[in-house]
Amino acid sequence: MRFGLRPDSVPERAALALGLVPTPFLHTHPTLLLARALIAAVEHSVFEALTDGPRSAAEVAHACDTHPDATAALLDALTGAEYLERQGDGYVLCPVARKWLLRDSPCSLVDSIRFRAIEWDWISRLDDFLVTGEPLDFHRAMTEDEWGLYQRGMLALARLAVPETIRRTSVPEGARTLLDVGGSHGAFASAFCARYPNLRATVLDLPEAVLHAAPLLAEAAASAGINGRVEHQPGDVLTDDLGEGAWDVVFVGQLVHHFDEATGRDLMRRIARALRPGGVLIVQEVMRDRKPDDQLGALAGLYFALTSAAGTRTFEEIADWQREAGLIPQRPVRFRTLPGVGQQNAVKPG
Ligand SMILES: C[S@@+](CC[C@H](N)C(=O)[O-])C[C@H]1O[C@@H](n2cnc3c(N)ncnc32)[C@H](O)[C@@H]1O
Repeated sequence: MRFGLRPDSVPERAALALGLVPTPFLHTHPTLLLARALIAAVEHSVFEALTDGPRSAAEVAHACDTHPDATAALLDALTGAEYLERQGDGYVLCPVARKWLLRDSPCSLVDSIRFRAIEWDWISRLDDFLVTGEPLDFHRAMTEDEWGLYQRGMLALARLAVPETIRRTSVPEGARTLLDVGGSHGAFASAFCARYPNLRATVLDLPEAVLHAAPLLAEAAASAGINGRVEHQPGDVLTDDLGEGAWDVVFVGQLVHHFDEATGRDLMRRIARALRPGGVLIVQEVMRDRKPDDQLGALAGLYFALTSAAGTRTFEEIADWQREAGLIPQRPVRFRTLPGVGQQNAVKPG
């Protein structure tokens, strides 16, 4: 999956093919505006104001407490981007906005989009990073509010990954214990417990994360009907003792991109020791393709380099870490519902 310019006509297609279109301008100016228009619209509940049918710009401005002329310009931009449609004098939601951008939708990305406002500031520091090579280390720099939004933003994305994760992951027969490393909101741990009635889960995350993720975990556990079988453990996976032969399943979701290679390899060794013989390690990540034109994987790699001094990895790299740790890597699982996301699982020899 990649994004790019989509010609609207045969002459535009020809101009693009002939290299006549100033693609760097179009990759920067409209994309910046589109990103910020979506963030602002979500932040000011513009999509919510359109939930019940056509509204004029003035009505949306009134509902959102925004300026009528500025609101009209925003609504036109969102219409051009196919998030809204015109209906008479009013605007209505397109299906894509109704599915992803309303707070009560089961697929809501509202909290994830709101987190973009924080990332906007981080990304604006990319040129400093380029010169100094100093990453942001955002886990050490976030405010209380940012930690809260970070956890809720992660949950919005995790909800999309949970069904395929459960469908495509084999847990050993009779498994009783699961450690969810960097598990935050506990959506994955709760879903595994709901699917496997004998399973109990511990969700290990940094204390700042647990503070804000505790209500999310309680909600996930209650809605999965598994109260009492999943709990948080505040800590740091890089320094905490993970035990020896203690876990049937260890799930590591979207975490290793925060660690450099030596740290990642060391983590695999400590997890291998912590697993029971026959136990399974699941590493779920935004995976990098081996092809150099993997646009989304490489951009994600740049983001993680900027924010955490690390990056995206290929299935083969993670499998190599697992092999070195004495585990047996399994076949890569490429998610069908989330482009670029995949799982590299491994089994501890019995
Ligand atoms: C990108 S989020 C992923 C959350 C969740 N696993 C998911 O897939 O939705 C990374 C999580 O790892 C946690 N984390 C980062 N460094 C950690 C560490 N050293 N020990 C434990 N958790 C850590 C963060 O606080 C955050 O909750």
